[in-house]
Amino acid sequence: MTKIIAIANQKGGVGKTTTAVNLATAMAAIQKKVLLIDLDPQGNASTGLGVAYTDRTQGTYEFMVGSCALSRAIKKTVVPNLFVMPASEELRGAEIEFVTEKNREVILKTALESAEFDYIYIDCPPAMGILTLNALVAAQSVLIPLQCEYYALEGLSQLLKTIKIVNENFNPRLSLEGVILTMFDSRNSLSASVEKDVRSHLGDKVYTTVIPRNVRVSEAPSHGLPAMIYDFKSSGAQAYMRLATEILKKEEKVEA
Ligand SMILES: Nc1ncnc2c1ncn2[C@@H]1O[C@H](COP(=O)(O)OP(=O)(O)OP(=O)(O)O)[C@@H](O)[C@H]1O
Ligand SMILES: [Mg+2]
Repeated sequence: MTKIIAIANQKGGVGKTTTAVNLATAMAAIQKKVLLIDLDPQGNASTGLGVAYTDRTQGTYEFMVGSCALSRAIKKTVVPNLFVMPASEELRGAEIEFVTEKNREVILKTALESAEFDYIYIDCPPAMGILTLNALVAAQSVLIPLQCEYYALEGLSQLLKTIKIVNENFNPRLSLEGVILTMFDSRNSLSASVEKDVRSHLGDKVYTTVIPRNVRVSEAPSHGLPAMIYDFKSSGAQAYMRLATEILKKEEKVEA
């Protein structure tokens, strides 16, 4: 059974791509077969996994419109078991192009029907448009990275409403996978107060693991490497490893 997880938050710069790249790497390190789909025209996940621009001619857009098979749309990465579907140039126009398409919200879901992986993570763009809607329709669950800052809760309630709407109208199996607090700064009392608020609202939907603000995590993409590979011992990489372990434990509990 392939589990498809959309990593989404309409707010920009909250750690979606960083979480997608490093969680995917951590899962692959635990021997899972993983695909990361770069659904953001910015192409940050493709860059973060070291895909050269010349290797992005066939990717998410071509796969969605059916001009390219899965095997040709995905690339190997430096991480064994981890594959990436890069964001190609054409993805930039997709948001507008798909508007007039019939069944525009199921394009990705339909294309992924026979894909076989343990996990497919979808890195969404920072907007609630057709691309993110496609991710939410294709996925079983949504993982929400939440930056520990003042406006986080407002954005979160909007996002939870959107998930509910998608759940009621397009994808009845869609659930909230969990909320991961990112860029936590222990020297800043605001981080702790946001954490307290989010936990009191969402209880065990918030992972115990918190991702700290860590410079090694922000440096890694410029080397085309996940932080997990760039500096495995860094506090950020270790936190993503703990997150993967926590997610697997949670899944085992649900299955038991
Ligand atoms: N734990 C961390 N410690 C330090 N820097 C981080 C951490 N997580 C993310 N960053 C940095 O914060 C910035 C935003 O992160 P990221 O690109 O993952 O967010 P995003 O939600 O994918 O952004 P967008 O909405 O533009 O797609 C990046 O420069 C990234 O390197
Ligand atoms: Mg991103």
